[in-house]
Amino acid sequence: MGKKVTVVGAGFYGSTTAQRLAEYDVFETVVLTDIIEGKPEGLALDMNQSRPIEGFETKVVGATTGTGGEGYEAIADSDIVVITAGLPRKPGMSRMDLLGVNAKIVRGVAEQVAKYAPNAVVIVVSNPLDEMTALAQIATQFPRNRVLGQAGMLDTARFTHFVAEELGVPVKSVRTLTLGSHGDTMVPVPSQCTVDGKPLSDLLSADKIEELVVRTRNGGAEVVALLKTGSAYYAPSAAAARMAKAVAEDSGAVMPVCAWVDGEYGISGVYLGVEAEIGAGGIRKVVETNLTDAELAELKVAAEAVRAKQADVANL
Ligand code: APR
Repeated sequence: MGKKVTVVGAGFYGSTTAQRLAEYDVFETVVLTDIIEGKPEGLALDMNQSRPIEGFETKVVGATTGTGGEGYEAIADSDIVVITAGLPRKPGMSRMDLLGVNAKIVRGVAEQVAKYAPNAVVIVVSNPLDEMTALAQIATQFPRNRVLGQAGMLDTARFTHFVAEELGVPVKSVRTLTLGSHGDTMVPVPSQCTVDGKPLSDLLSADKIEELVVRTRNGGAEVVALLKTGSAYYAPSAAAARMAKAVAEDSGAVMPVCAWVDGEYGISGVYLGVEAEIGAGGIRKVVETNLTDAELAELKVAAEAVRAKQADVANL
């Protein structure tokens, strides 16, 4: 049997994720759902009609769902579920401003996922990311390694893009890393950043690196401010789709993701942005990297900040 992946939420993030997943041509089926009647079906039909042009065989199935669980049979036995349902930010909003409204949506979705796709690996992208990932685990009661969030891939990609632009080098020669939260306590890790293997600090001044770090931390807000309505989705969907592909292929790829941390870096009992090895069961293991004392201290601050918020979501 081929693999089945479901994307919940057929807005900008969900539809671009579904399209990318279909174009990989590694899944038998991509299911796209939304509560807006006809929207997922229409998008699925449109995507399927691109199959002869782009040359992929994956079938896209659209399904309207009700908040009471109607229509969820369509996701039955999915191997992977990507949760994109929820409101995006408006200019001036922080991700945390979405907490109350998106918690209700994500909890409702997660409960249906637990019922209809009890063995799925769940990839959460709805914001605020670290809290929604923790909530999805609570609502599904899935093992923690089977619930992860997309953030680090995106933040790292933004950082890499900014460094490549600044130096006028190909993105593939740049390696960057961000850990911590997908928010104000994001922890860019300059000590692990290289360009063609050379330390970034040999190529850019500390001030310039800090400028790019700040732009990375505000990367989502910069896009929101320009769009005026809605938030980023091309880079976010690329990140989520690659994570789903790594799960489908049991690849063992090491990616920065939001994962349950249990002792690594001296931190326990919290969903946090770290590097992890991704496989068929979700997180195979968290991979610790060498951090400077200052970076480690920042990561611990981030862990405590998200821990406090994650404790709140249990009651939302
Ligand atoms: N079940 C399924 N879909 C839902 C539900 C639900 N319970 N509630 C809302 N949706 C759908 C909406 O109908 C909408 O089509 O989620 C979709 C969200 O799409 P957009 O408004 O286009 O937002 P998008 O840019 O896709 O962002 C989705 O990802 O990056 C985060 O902060 C962002 O939380 C937001 C999420």
